[in-house]
Amino acid sequence: MSQSPANTRVLSGMRPTGALHLGNYHGALKNWLDLQYQYDCYFFVADWHALTTGYEDTEHLEEHTLQMVIDWLGAGLNPAAATIFIQSQVPEHAELHLLLSMITPLGWLERVPTYKDQQEQLKEKDLATYGFLGYPLLQSADILLYRPSFVPVGEDQVAHVEITREIARRFNHLYGREPEFVAKAEKALKNLGSKTADLYRTLRKAYQETGDEAALEQARALLDGHGRLTLADRERLQGFIEGTGRSILPEPDVLLTATPKVPGLDGRKMSKSYGNTLGLREDPAEIARKLKAMQTDPARARRTDPGDPAKCPVFDLHAIYSSTATQEWAASGCRSAGIGCIECKKPLIDAVVVEVEAIRLRAKEYEENPDLVRSILAEGCEKARDAARATMHEVRAAMGLNYR
Ligand code: TRP
Ligand code: SF4
Repeated sequence: MSQSPANTRVLSGMRPTGALHLGNYHGALKNWLDLQYQYDCYFFVADWHALTTGYEDTEHLEEHTLQMVIDWLGAGLNPAAATIFIQSQVPEHAELHLLLSMITPLGWLERVPTYKDQQEQLKEKDLATYGFLGYPLLQSADILLYRPSFVPVGEDQVAHVEITREIARRFNHLYGREPEFVAKAEKALKNLGSKTADLYRTLRKAYQETGDEAALEQARALLDGHGRLTLADRERLQGFIEGTGRSILPEPDVLLTATPKVPGLDGRKMSKSYGNTLGLREDPAEIARKLKAMQTDPARARRTDPGDPAKCPVFDLHAIYSSTATQEWAASGCRSAGIGCIECKKPLIDAVVVEVEAIRLRAKEYEENPDLVRSILAEGCEKARDAARATMHEVRAAMGLNYR
């Protein structure tokens, strides 16, 4: 069968916040490292998104982007496997955002949970702007421009992928209708070859009759993995599964990233704004010093006081970094006061330092040669633009904007 994940596209982005910390690493980046060898991955720096809340302070934007990309590469993102680029260098994101804005009801944007939440949380900033309201739509454009099957994100971004799906549905409904749709879809099916066409029909039937989501996925993957289709026929066959019209902008699925709890040094969630982070490329001596001073279960005021690992943020880090045996050793030693906190932290410090050392080593080449990073990005942008141009060609044509 021609189903091939290598042709299945995955897209995700990250705001440029500067050098990353372990929270960013375990919350997103580490997941990207695995995905790059399974799918056709596009990963980008969402620099325009940084402007939606940080429009007053753009001085460090370029440096933040560079440092973040160095972290990506240091962590093992491989430019030979994944396409790495910068949002603002692919202006098609803006064009699609504009066109989608024409069909997006204001209420959809006002109802996105992050809209009011963020305005409350960032009270010191004036976020009553057009750009901030439109931020989820910009994200929808980011996604739909590449027509990915999956968007790996954490829980906090699920609502944004959901609105993306709604916008895609609305777009396809408005512009994907064409005369003779069924006849054209049937004709496209002939190009698949009879075996694949039969499988496609079976899966389509399963989906339409029983709502079998797995069959829908499989049918989509079948098309993704098929090289001999024109873009328009691919859209028809994608749309034909669900029986609507052409699926010019296919609805992507969330690939929910498991996000372990990564506590910062003070026990609160690790976050740059709390100043409680461990950097991905931080000096090992500094990491050791910080971890030695990290907050533990307050009940263990003295070495002889027993503690409760469930109340200790250090133990949450053990859950990420240590083997089951080490975790058991730490937990029972804590409860019985058999070990002290410094002792408990020792294997953890070693594990974090080993991880960070590997990233530092890989990043060094890029730190010393920022032009190498720039050329990786330039190449990624070119590749991304090719994909983006192909989509915009279809979008313009569908909307009656294909002037010749
Ligand atoms: N909004 C995302 C965040 O703040 C970043 C982002 C922008 C993104 N565009 C995207 C993520 C497209 C996935 C897909 O984390
Ligand atoms: Fe935390 Fe370990 Fe100290 Fe227990 S012994 S309080 S788990 S650092």
